[in-house]
Amino acid sequence: MTALPDSALVLGLESSCDETAAAVLRADGTILAEAVLSQLEDHAPYGGVVPEIAARAHLAHLPALVRRVLEQAGTTPAGLSAVAATAGPGLIGGLIVGATLGKGIALAQGIPYLAINHLEAHALTPRLPGVASHPLAFPYLLLLLSGGHCQCVAVEDVGHHRRLGSTLDDAVGEAFDKSAKLLGLPWPGGPHLERLAQGGDPARFPLPRPMFGRPGCDFSFSGLKTAVAQAVAKGLDDMGRRDLAASFQASVAAVLADRARNALAMLPGATALVVAGGVAANAGVRAALAGVAQKAGLPLVAPPIRLCTDNAVMVAWAGIERLKAGMADGLDHAPRPRWPLDQLRQAGAEQAGGRP
Ligand code: KG4
Ligand code: ZN
Repeated sequence: MTALPDSALVLGLESSCDETAAAVLRADGTILAEAVLSQLEDHAPYGGVVPEIAARAHLAHLPALVRRVLEQAGTTPAGLSAVAATAGPGLIGGLIVGATLGKGIALAQGIPYLAINHLEAHALTPRLPGVASHPLAFPYLLLLLSGGHCQCVAVEDVGHHRRLGSTLDDAVGEAFDKSAKLLGLPWPGGPHLERLAQGGDPARFPLPRPMFGRPGCDFSFSGLKTAVAQAVAKGLDDMGRRDLAASFQASVAAVLADRARNALAMLPGATALVVAGGVAANAGVRAALAGVAQKAGLPLVAPPIRLCTDNAVMVAWAGIERLKAGMADGLDHAPRPRWPLDQLRQAGAEQAGGRP
């Protein structure tokens, strides 16, 4: 452990997908400033994220966003103690924009640069003071449920994570978005589908529950999406669309609960079940996971939605955790479009110069 004064300021940058975000945190976890610019409107006409549009938008907006958060935090680049930027996994154009800006500031100020793994940033968010009702100790189980990621992760220490299971095909957010599209809803469809499902009959359509009851905690959602497509193809009135949305959501919630139960059994000693990613905003999913946690005698920790979806607070916080553990990265660290959590340990040990 390294002594990092509580008053030290860390800038966080996030640009791995379609959110441009910057934040300034004090090393004690106090959020001094945060800003997120969504590119939803830029990508909506295409029904998905267009990498080239995303990279150009990050380049256009990130520098001004950094100036804004520094001003809000009442500081300047000279007042920073470190810069943390998402360096992967994600879309390479955006990663290069954020990482290069981060390195530039670190170089100019002569302060440490931290190349943050986006998944680790999600994984460490529940340790940010104030997120859980008491400081969350390792190990805990993380269910990362977003548009791009769907995995069960054993979070064992800073830089030490084990993927217990992941999706064999679509991510759960992707399944929401594709099913919503089939139901004629706008992209990204998760929140729209949840609204449509309200008042619908979840038992009307006997949809498959892929992987339910199987050993392990892998996921699969493409068959569920196909079943939704088949139901839609038969023709649905408004009530039918509502019932189908409710049936889809019930199926997803049941599968996630089943997978979470198995994952918890694979991590004896877990202190909590943590859920993160955009799909964690879904009330049905949260309720199902709360039931699993309660049965296991563990708290369900769900960070507030703005910290569950992509943001820069989590990146700055991961930077603070890594600095406290004595880690930092060289300015030659290259952004990585693919960067599984399991490979963090090795990379961290090399770059930190010796942390086991
Ligand atoms: O974590 P996130 O903001 O971005 C990444 O994908 O990295 O997650 C976005 C995903 C989308 O697929 C979106 O449809 C889904 O989260 N989502 C929801 C809800 N809110 C967002 N899915 C179901 N119910 C919701 N309320
Ligand atoms: Zn994310």
